[in-house]
Amino acid sequence: MTATAELRVGLCGLGTVGQSLVELLAVNAAAIERQAGRPIRLVQVASRTPKPGVDLQGATFSTDTQQLIGSSEVDVVVELIGGEGLALDLSRATLACGKSLVTGNKALLALHGEELFALARQNKAGIGFEAAVAGGIPLINALVSGLGGNQIGWVAGIINGTCNYILTAMTEDGAAFDAVLATAQELGYAEADPTFDVGGIDAAHKIAIIARLVFGVPINFADVPVAGIEMVSAEDIEYARQLGYRIKHLGVAAGERDAVGNLIAVDVRAHAALVPQDRLLAGVGGVTNAAMVQDNAVGLSVYSGPGAGGRPTAAAVVADLIRVAQGTLPTVPAAIPSEVTGQSVALKALEDTEAAFYMRIPVLDKPGVLAEISHLLSEQGISIESLIQREQAVRDAQVPIVVLTQAVAQSALNRALATIAASPDVVGDIVHLRVESLL
Ligand code: HSE
Repeated sequence: MTATAELRVGLCGLGTVGQSLVELLAVNAAAIERQAGRPIRLVQVASRTPKPGVDLQGATFSTDTQQLIGSSEVDVVVELIGGEGLALDLSRATLACGKSLVTGNKALLALHGEELFALARQNKAGIGFEAAVAGGIPLINALVSGLGGNQIGWVAGIINGTCNYILTAMTEDGAAFDAVLATAQELGYAEADPTFDVGGIDAAHKIAIIARLVFGVPINFADVPVAGIEMVSAEDIEYARQLGYRIKHLGVAAGERDAVGNLIAVDVRAHAALVPQDRLLAGVGGVTNAAMVQDNAVGLSVYSGPGAGGRPTAAAVVADLIRVAQGTLPTVPAAIPSEVTGQSVALKALEDTEAAFYMRIPVLDKPGVLAEISHLLSEQGISIESLIQREQAVRDAQVPIVVLTQAVAQSALNRALATIAASPDVVGDIVHLRVESLL
């Protein structure tokens, strides 16, 4: 192919993002060609479900993805099917025949990234996945290219638009969880299975990809601690506000280094957390995503924008297609062993991490309960930073005791939670959430 020949795209999947990609490649064709140095043309579309109402802008349609991958008319394959089964098969087949792959599939990369990155390297094919993480924000490019030479300390981000949309509506409008989720689904933000969003799995997929890129170590997804937002109630949002915090769902990836800067462990997790109200991430609302990065050269930097939805995510696919057309799509280097041990760098167990915690403990409204709780905490060496106790019972002679602890190991907190839960004065489930100071 000559440098000026067009790049011919085959698209697999015609959902929200796929349809937006078809549209964007047509609407922005001139800008795309100028940037890429040659035209980028959609030539074939394959989808299991025909969508006769969609204008394919001249591309041919089939239900046969295998045929599309093998076609001599297709130079690069865009995978927007999602999930693992068919998407994994066609991603393998694309890279194996030396064609570049552009995908928005975070589950695929979090679970099979190591295999696909290796296949891409072996076959000298590109693999682009800007669309897989934080939708329209060019976060992958910022991490591997813009900040690529820096020693990353940590990345923390609001990386699930659906969770942020729900938490924002609960915080600002007092909206009910189910109603807001339904709207997020209608707007095309949520995954096909929305429990992936509200259960934290989608954010965990994304932070696992980020951790793999910035720390260069393989991440076994099954070992990544994951929690969602199902346990967050309007009550917790209000108590957090009184304590000076917002509740956000975060993905966090932090490197632990020895005195000379060698990476010795990686802490990767996704969960709801209390963020101090004066941090930039606390003010990020709606479907907007934002990531903070701390590194040893730039210091703190923040990236923010729409993290879900058709056009923003399709724009990330277009950015990768431009890099394929230019021949500038970076390869993902092989995972590194630890500089210290020569072994794979360990993923830190949640038990071994430390944080301050928010706890809401429903107790019987009777004298001595507060003293008992503070005794059970102090038995585990946990100091109380702040405390809220309602004076009036909220229901059935119950009152919540809300505690903000000082920094403590998760293992000590777990022991305290077990003893507190066993108290006859505790009359319901205890909610506990981490505090992320983002400093
Ligand atoms: N379901 C995802 C979200 C879509 O809500 O952020 C973008 O990955």
